[in-house]
Amino acid sequence: MIEFKQVSFSYGSEKTDNSLYNINLTVKDGEFILLCGGSGCGKTTLTRLVNGLIPNYYEGKLEGKVLVDGVDVSRMPLYEMAGMVGSVFQNPRSQFFNVDTTGELAFGCENMGLPVKEIHARIKRTAKDLYLKHLLDRSIFALSGGEKQKIACGSVAALEPRIYVLDEPSSNLDVCAVEELRNLLAHWKSQGKTVVIAEHRLYYLHELADRVIYMKDGQIEREYSGKEFSAMGRMELESLGLRILSMEHLKDSFVPEKKKQ
Ligand SMILES: Nc1ncnc2c1ncn2[C@@H]1O[C@H](COP(=O)(O)OP(=O)(O)OP(=O)(O)O)[C@@H](O)[C@H]1O
Ligand SMILES: [Mg+2]
Repeated sequence: MIEFKQVSFSYGSEKTDNSLYNINLTVKDGEFILLCGGSGCGKTTLTRLVNGLIPNYYEGKLEGKVLVDGVDVSRMPLYEMAGMVGSVFQNPRSQFFNVDTTGELAFGCENMGLPVKEIHARIKRTAKDLYLKHLLDRSIFALSGGEKQKIACGSVAALEPRIYVLDEPSSNLDVCAVEELRNLLAHWKSQGKTVVIAEHRLYYLHELADRVIYMKDGQIEREYSGKEFSAMGRMELESLGLRILSMEHLKDSFVPEKKKQ
């Protein structure tokens, strides 16, 4: 379970406006939470509080408490958090430490000090579960954007965390790679994992989400069930500054001007 108890946060040491203000949120085990809202509303900041990058990596003024399975995140070293909360970011390159894929899949497990035999077993299991077998023993530099994101997800999955936090994981992916990402998220959901994902692209997620949190100016402005959110029309989404939910509409809006007539 993840609990935000009256959490406010502002970056840096100067007195600035809060990036997050008075967040109260409880995420139950196995829930799939979609964070949405305009640029700068605080989605990334909220994810950083779950995986411990705040306050362990990003400095600032933190009030209130974030608890993961009852443990205060601010008191937990990042290497311990990594075993509980797996993080996937916008740009997979930012999270690679190796030049080969198999080394990358093993990296987190090695850091956790797991025995070599166990690491091999986990790589095998992850490669099978995430359909990564064909990507083993490859140079990271030779992978496509979608393949890189798959390896990033695999290296996190090998740690077998109970919670996954993802921050705009689709932003550098093409439509096919987004579909594969969706399948992977559905797999994690079916395993009973907790998923918290911040995104602008909503079409591939709204049917997976149990709850959608709409943020504005560092606050939780509204909350919807997945069903309520999926039923929202184009006008309503637009009024919230959100992207449309259907691929069909998306295709329409990409039709070149001439063909529209
Ligand atoms: N590292 C940082 N240092 C200082 N301020 C930051 C930092 N990261 C984010 N902020 C500020 O915190 C506020 C919330 O930003 P955040 O990145 O969490 O929003 P977001 O909803 O993820 O936006 P986007 O959709 O563009 O990714 C913004 O005012 C932003 O400028
Ligand atoms: Mg962000």
